[in-house]
Amino acid sequence: MSPTLPHKVIFDTDPGVDDAMALYFALAHPDIEVLGITTTFGNVTVQQAATNALYLCALAGRQIPVTQGVARPWVKAGEAPPAYIHGADGLGNLLQRIAVTDTLDPRSSAQFIVDMARAQPGQITLVAVGPLGNLSLALRLEPELPRLLKQVILMGGTVLEPGNVSPVAEANIWNDPHAADQVFTAGWPLTMVGLDVTHRLVLPVTMFQQIATHQRHRATDTLHTAVDFYAHFYGSRFEHVAAVHGCFGHDVLAFIYLVAPHLFQTQAGQIRVATDGLAQGQTILKRQAGIDYPQAGWDAAVPTSTVCMAVDASECSELFMATLLRDWLPA
Ligand code: RIB
Ligand code: CA
Repeated sequence: MSPTLPHKVIFDTDPGVDDAMALYFALAHPDIEVLGITTTFGNVTVQQAATNALYLCALAGRQIPVTQGVARPWVKAGEAPPAYIHGADGLGNLLQRIAVTDTLDPRSSAQFIVDMARAQPGQITLVAVGPLGNLSLALRLEPELPRLLKQVILMGGTVLEPGNVSPVAEANIWNDPHAADQVFTAGWPLTMVGLDVTHRLVLPVTMFQQIATHQRHRATDTLHTAVDFYAHFYGSRFEHVAAVHGCFGHDVLAFIYLVAPHLFQTQAGQIRVATDGLAQGQTILKRQAGIDYPQAGWDAAVPTSTVCMAVDASECSELFMATLLRDWLPA
């Protein structure tokens, strides 16, 4: 194995059905080592997010530190979680749950990120797939964080694809736009995996059924049940998704980018987030480097990020399937 593998990852998440898919992809992939799971509000309350992270790890027989993070946006007022998308419990309204004895790491998510980054400088990739309040708070605790982390890969935002909570805003950015703008301007190697690519990856429920049949296990069965619920929401919004009874695989694409960046076409540019007004939550990409705009906010101090603009969805689908069909769960 290469000396740079496996990728050491902190997973910042609001599980959430596609967050669960992403976590299980990461646990199943041989080149990814999940060092910790930091949770945030978003698809559910932060308490439920932490409960779900512990639950998903227990189902998969894995002991990974889980922390509870920010409960609300940094500046704007919080909103009710979208129970109609992920279920009131975030995992498609599971009818029953096994008992879990593992408990939370007592640190806040932000403190955990800072402690881990200080302990292993330059080693850790932060994969963030929820609103970005934990990263924003971690930056305030440790301004050197952009030099202590290896990179940030985040699922959120959109450039050309219409938004999913407003005509221009994607949910994770909408949920905490001030935190997101701080994250995009912090100066770490950052890749945005947004709706421009995640709306290309449609995963049919039959894939999850096949995974659950291939390896009969509580973890694969729970994922299948959760995705079946989640698919009903996407089927009600998108005809082509309804046609295959499927869903978008948003969060999993952040991990696929980590292990297979060659499957993506990217563009470099400065990114800012509209924090107020009608465009709140919009991720604005400055695509022409040569233009010196007269408006404030686009000077050279704004770092350059990488944005995923296109993806080989069928290769991603195959990689997802092949990874989840590995022998990754305890008997
Ligand atoms: O817009 C998609 C994102 O919002 C994903 O992270 C998903 O989990 C939802 O919360
Ligand atoms: Ca998420």
